[in-house]
Amino acid sequence: MRRMRRDDFSRRLMRENQLSVDDLIYPVFVLDGAGRTEIISSMPGVGRVSLDRLLEVAAHCVALGIPALALFPVIDPGLKTPGAEEAFNPDGLVPRTVRALKQQFPGLGVITDVALDPYTSHGQDGLIDTQGYVMNDATIAVLVQQALAHAEAGADVVAPSDMMDGRVGAIRNALDAAGYIHTRILAYAAKYASSFYGPFRDAVGSTANLGAGSKETYQMDPANSDEALREVALDIAEGADMVMVKPGMPYLDIVRRVKDTCGVPTYAYQVSGEYAMLKAAAANGWLDEKKCVLESLLSFKRAGADGILTYFAMDAAAWLRQAQSK
Ligand code: PBG
Repeated sequence: MRRMRRDDFSRRLMRENQLSVDDLIYPVFVLDGAGRTEIISSMPGVGRVSLDRLLEVAAHCVALGIPALALFPVIDPGLKTPGAEEAFNPDGLVPRTVRALKQQFPGLGVITDVALDPYTSHGQDGLIDTQGYVMNDATIAVLVQQALAHAEAGADVVAPSDMMDGRVGAIRNALDAAGYIHTRILAYAAKYASSFYGPFRDAVGSTANLGAGSKETYQMDPANSDEALREVALDIAEGADMVMVKPGMPYLDIVRRVKDTCGVPTYAYQVSGEYAMLKAAAANGWLDEKKCVLESLLSFKRAGADGILTYFAMDAAAWLRQAQSK
């Protein structure tokens, strides 16, 4: 085995997987106002920015060749309600941001998150009944309106991350009926009730709203893997164009099973907690940030992912470019 590993040329010739800028999706947090950048203490290097600043970030992404952004809104606490009405406001933060991005950077893919947690006063991804249980079909009715508002604003991809049953089919039907036949659906098909989302909830300000509430009645049990394949099969049957596994690194076995079994465009989300772990270790001098991040992203490719949503997208794109010009 070592003969082939001996020299760089033969290592390159037998290399099975490659990470490229085409594999990267950059998640961004947007807030209202102008000239605003807020730091997120648990996610060093990632900020919440107002639209003017986001357009600067988008320009960098375009220059680096990153194919798409995934938008996450930070909603003013005064706009959060039990019924999440702000989620489908046609002039809300997300639709305004999408319009501005598509106008300035028509070639940059814009992916919007379809879920109610940024908009609910209780921090759940859906509407709750008097017992606090997240109601499936009542939530879907709102998700459909939210997806339509995003599509109307020009979103290229809507990404339901709520884990209600049947939402992909409902959204596909509504999009088609309204003439948005080109709007793609990236379904968070296998989304786990993970504790690795902590820093994200700080970032969008839903931690306090959620309180002791958990998402275990709709997000998946980290113990399960066959169930992920059923989720993916359902979302594909309902019309998903792409599927997502989330979180990422601790769930690469799921990525591999999904890719092998279903063979559909499969993405993985290297979530906020994974980012925080790598950043913290690097900041302590315990890990080499660049090498470990690139290795982690390559591992997603080896597991079968077609792309990776990662807060390291801009760094990785710049590192890959440096490596190329050497
Ligand atoms: C919720 C949502 C979550 C993330 C993206 N959208 C987490 C949650 O279920 O609370 C997490 C992303 C991350 O941790 O980076 N719709």
